[in-house]
Amino acid sequence: MRVAMLTGGGDCPGLNAVMRAVVRRGERTYGDEFLGFVDGWRGVIDGVTMPLSVETLRGTLPRGGTVIGSSRTNPFKIDGGVDACQASLERFEVDALIAIGGDDTLGVADKLAGRGVHVVGVPKTIDNDLSATELTFGFDTAVQIATEAIDRLHTTAESHHRVMVVEVMGRHAGHIAVWSGIAGGATMILIPEEPFDIEAVCSALRDRHENHGKYASIVVVAEGAVPSEGSASLVSGEVDQFGHVRLGGIGMVLANAIEERTGYETRATILGHVQRGGTPTAFDRVLATRFGIAAIEAVHAGAWGQMVALQAGDIVRVPLIEAVGKPKLVDPALYHGVAEVFFAS
Ligand code: F6P
Repeated sequence: MRVAMLTGGGDCPGLNAVMRAVVRRGERTYGDEFLGFVDGWRGVIDGVTMPLSVETLRGTLPRGGTVIGSSRTNPFKIDGGVDACQASLERFEVDALIAIGGDDTLGVADKLAGRGVHVVGVPKTIDNDLSATELTFGFDTAVQIATEAIDRLHTTAESHHRVMVVEVMGRHAGHIAVWSGIAGGATMILIPEEPFDIEAVCSALRDRHENHGKYASIVVVAEGAVPSEGSASLVSGEVDQFGHVRLGGIGMVLANAIEERTGYETRATILGHVQRGGTPTAFDRVLATRFGIAAIEAVHAGAWGQMVALQAGDIVRVPLIEAVGKPKLVDPALYHGVAEVFFAS
């Protein structure tokens, strides 16, 4: 078969590992040929491709990012975009397309499957907020990076008796914040699922600093966290083709508010794209490899409109529609039953 791949949305450590696994299994077991559409759906619309093979993907297993590029292009938001996609698939004689992406990329894949396109999805996002799969690759790497940052911030916070606010990624869900916050021993963790009361945050910090002999604190905040009395503070009003506003800024707003209300010297660190760059952890390499092999098997099973997913430790297939549209949120039992036990004490 002639199989095309694309990577869409924000990049993520492990994308290359997926493609390497797809190609290795496809070439060696089925005699497939491969090509990559460059820069996500934009490459499909514009008909820009690059060859992919076992040889071209050698050495990419530990490499972060995606060697075929990515973008947030939405064919359904571009005049003639969908027709252009279908024309490209015909022109390059593509028998099957593997779309590797998050909610937006897989949402497009689902709609195209509805129009008869032979497409299979692979879930990806460092945010780990995609439904129908227990984990996405890239998440473990992001948590590892954030945890290391928190570990480092502890020592400088303690030396200067400061409050350190650490802003991590997590637009709709606070998975990275909760996991790195628990692993890093955060004083408090603020996530989109649980709007926070700034005065309650400050009084917990006061209690810790005045009654528990701990004159230093780490507050981990997900970029999508919102104060209960208002909406998130946004750095820019820029909106992408999927309607997402660019976030990033709540950490700074929070640090200023804490310093103003408590009088404690407070600093903010915004980890930003550092969490998405660099080499994937061993766990993410293995998960990405398992997804890749399952994706090419799904292609040969003709499982169009399906996505590979991790459920109860196994790789399974689920309809794309089950994965898109509704984010997977942090389990309240993990937040309230585990993370909260350590808050401010
Ligand atoms: O891919 C998800 C994500 O990492 C979000 O957590 C974040 O809000 C967004 O991407 C940032 O996107 P961009 O790279 O376009 O700034």
